[in-house]
Amino acid sequence: MIDVKNLTKWYNTTLAVDDVSFRVEKGSVVGFLGPNGAGKTTTLKIITSYLPATSGTVTVNGFDVLGESIDVRGVIGYMPENTPLYPEMRVREYLSFRAKLRGIPPKQRKAAIERVAERCWLSKPENMMRRRLSALSRGYQQRVGLAEVLLHAPPVLILDEPTIGLDPAQIRDMRTLIGELGGEHTIILSSHILAEVEQTCSNIIIIAGGQVVAQGPPNQLRGRVVGLNKVLAEISDGGTGDTTEDILRDIKAMPGVNDVSCEAVKGWLHLEISTDPRSDVREKLFDLTAEKQWALRELRQAKGSLEDFFVQITYEQTMQAGARA
Ligand SMILES: Nc1ncnc2c1ncn2[C@@H]1O[C@H](COP(=O)(O)OP(=O)(O)OP(=O)(O)O)[C@@H](O)[C@H]1O
Ligand SMILES: [Mg+2]
Repeated sequence: MIDVKNLTKWYNTTLAVDDVSFRVEKGSVVGFLGPNGAGKTTTLKIITSYLPATSGTVTVNGFDVLGESIDVRGVIGYMPENTPLYPEMRVREYLSFRAKLRGIPPKQRKAAIERVAERCWLSKPENMMRRRLSALSRGYQQRVGLAEVLLHAPPVLILDEPTIGLDPAQIRDMRTLIGELGGEHTIILSSHILAEVEQTCSNIIIIAGGQVVAQGPPNQLRGRVVGLNKVLAEISDGGTGDTTEDILRDIKAMPGVNDVSCEAVKGWLHLEISTDPRSDVREKLFDLTAEKQWALRELRQAKGSLEDFFVQITYEQTMQAGARA
């Protein structure tokens, strides 16, 4: 459906997108994730034909974004970062105006407006469609922005940070809405909020410093975080008289252990043991405590979150990009 190949974009001397390639299959909802300045908006603008690439190709539904931009715009509904609304217009008036610009024939406009108003929960309360855009809360303005891009029933939706500036309840509504739209549309939505893409998207593409640093289904990416392996344990000397230093030294000396941090709480050492991603040191640690006759009352593997993964991977990439610049 969307095919991005070796996409590169320079703004004068700034390399905003650096050899990015990915595919988005029909009907999938893809989260485009990255920190500020990662190149999300730039990539989305190129996909929607609003900005030419420096090099590389993008096709949407088989249409080339450079050579067939009219066709591309026909199949895409693009909600930009800052939805440009006309504050003086009323909701219905605005949607009608946009429907006209979209080339929807006059006879079909009313039905199209009713359809999107219903879809984006604008049909209630009754007077919502008559309100001025300037008098709408941020959340409702976002809904109008989304309603607008749905007017021409495009098969592809590109949403640049659709939940930015919304309160938690509105974010949940917007997420539900996007989830519902996912059934009928192919969607790319950008965000730097993990929870958002984790819940809405079947696939995630993480970009940082203009490059794709990871992609896959949320589960799979979360699985990779276990690579941040940490083992948590609570140990005491068990009456042996071994000091904290003794205990830490012996644990640090275990193969696969990279670092140990420790906090003493009521006679117990709460240990956080960072390990090599490939080793699971729990059994060996259990053996060690038995051999040393220490007391052990907790031993478990800390699960990494998608957030850990995101922070780690984007931090490294942003640093490298900074160094290249
Ligand atoms: N019109 C422009 N002229 C020059 N540089 C630009 C322009 N637009 C973006 N950039 C630069 O390109 C890089 C990528 O910006 P982009 O807006 O694509 O990032 P983003 O991932 O959308 O960030 P955010 O999360 O803040 O929206 C940044 O370094 C930015 O400063
Ligand atoms: Mg952006």
